[in-house]
Amino acid sequence: MHEVQEKKEKKPIILSGIQPTGIFTLGNYIGAIRNWVQLQEDYDTAYMIADLHALTVRQDPKVLRENILRAYAVILACGVDPEKSLTFIQSQVPEHAQLSWILSCNTQFGELSRMTQFKDKSAKHADNINAGLFTYPSLMAADILLYQADLVPVGADQSQHLELTRDIATRFNGLYGNTFKLPQGYYPKVGARVMSLADPTKKMSKSDENQNAFITILDEPGTIVKKFKRAVTDSEMSVRYAEGKDGINNLMSIYSSVTGLTYEQIEHDFAGKGYGDFKQAVGEAVAEELRPVRENYKRLREDKAYLEACYRAGAEKASHVARRTLQKVYKKCGLIL
Ligand code: TYM
Repeated sequence: MHEVQEKKEKKPIILSGIQPTGIFTLGNYIGAIRNWVQLQEDYDTAYMIADLHALTVRQDPKVLRENILRAYAVILACGVDPEKSLTFIQSQVPEHAQLSWILSCNTQFGELSRMTQFKDKSAKHADNINAGLFTYPSLMAADILLYQADLVPVGADQSQHLELTRDIATRFNGLYGNTFKLPQGYYPKVGARVMSLADPTKKMSKSDENQNAFITILDEPGTIVKKFKRAVTDSEMSVRYAEGKDGINNLMSIYSSVTGLTYEQIEHDFAGKGYGDFKQAVGEAVAEELRPVRENYKRLREDKAYLEACYRAGAEKASHVARRTLQKVYKKCGLIL
């Protein structure tokens, strides 16, 4: 027998999630999912479909069920590998809801009232400003803190929630002794905020009513090119990154993030060419980037048994990890487990 045990190297931990509402956009892909895939090589990664978060807005149960399964298949199609990453559905790991309650009791009303997402969503759904919408960030904090995550790969729109997660963790650690690791956001260098193609001052969002405002991960190549051709730009002619050129800046950052070219290289390549040529090139590059995702998805979505085996195993393993933190928290709070 070998006496020398190889010391198991501890990798930093990553956790992230996505809500299963509609088909994911190019913003979700560039801002988050693409990083998830890259990070799973060198980190201990956990990715989840945040279905409990989706309930903060009214959902049709049939549609939600379909969207959860579709979302799970899409992240696998993008390259999240259940062999490498804990890949699960949030509601199947009860520790998330359990820790969320405890964290809610350690989150201040004032802190939650300052969340811009809460303000935006309550303006949009004025007929349903429910308590879950308000305490949403405590659930997100639970998602992250349960796994003692070091890094959280997200787009820029989640940075406020992440700051609050750190504040909640710091407060809890201060009151009860060191319990949670303080996580940090991990943002892409370009594309942390992909903007709408119809109004480049607004974030690209899957809930936009205008279909031309966003690209979905599963759009056909022809549709992708057509949507980019319609993208709102400005009345100038030159492809250059500059203040006030929101539309072109957005297209340049999308192009840069899928091709790896710098803004200078893009400006050089398109010097003397019009916006039409540039839009065509961006459309084609994005269609090419998403081609394997669309193909993988078609295959995976049919394989219900495989998907189910993956998410059930994922939930079981995730629960095992999450339970350790929850037990620690119960003990510190004076609860009996
Ligand atoms: P969600 O579902 O709105 O978005 C999923 C991820 O996509 C990123 N994203 C974007 N990035 C760049 N440009 C855009 N236009 C764009 N739109 C969306 C988001 O920043 C996010 O990273 N609360 C989260 C889900 C969540 C979560 C978590 C994330 C629940 N628990 C724990 C991290 C850790 C949300 O609603 O993301």
